[in-house]
Amino acid sequence: MQTKEVIAGYWDLRSKSYGRGVVASKDEEREIWKRCLAPFLAERDVFKALDVGAGTGFLSFVLHDMGLDVTSVDLSAGMLSFANDACIHQKRDLGLCLADAESLPFQSLSFDLVTSRHLLWTLPDPARAIAEWMRVLCPGGRIIAVDGNWFDPTPSSW
Ligand SMILES: C[S@@+](CC[C@H](N)C(=O)[O-])C[C@H]1O[C@@H](n2cnc3c(N)ncnc32)[C@H](O)[C@@H]1O
Repeated sequence: MQTKEVIAGYWDLRSKSYGRGVVASKDEEREIWKRCLAPFLAERDVFKALDVGAGTGFLSFVLHDMGLDVTSVDLSAGMLSFANDACIHQKRDLGLCLADAESLPFQSLSFDLVTSRHLLWTLPDPARAIAEWMRVLCPGGRIIAVDGNWFDPTPSSW
């Protein structure tokens, strides 16, 4: 089995519980994300966003609430199925796309913004992914990538 099939299978399994957890995120958390993102979106006209590794759609929905035209990409059909259900339930019009963040099925210069939340740590070749995100960005576009040091065993200093 190819590496990407194994990864997709893992996230398909995780989607059953991951969807519940993320869907349960509080409105307060969404508002914090909007406040953090707003200064970056205000710098220039941002209309078209691509959310890579979108999962069940948490960040995609925040961007959509902020008025952007959002395309959400994920490798896992299970994750996208939860995102699709939420789109139907919330009457949202997003583009959902089953694809690899390291090899995107979009033309160059297609988006004003590329976002990823908690994706980079999962990728076999993050440098290739970022090069691909640069390719699909319009001139002056931005990449906003948010991640964590999830598996660092060092005790926190505070
Ligand atoms: C930790 S989850 C984060 C989901 C979402 N961004 C969030 O913040 O809730 C990682 C996501 O990345 C997706 N993913 C992993 N490898 C991918 C790849 N090569 N291309 C696209 N999505 C990928 C997984 O299917 C999963 O939905």
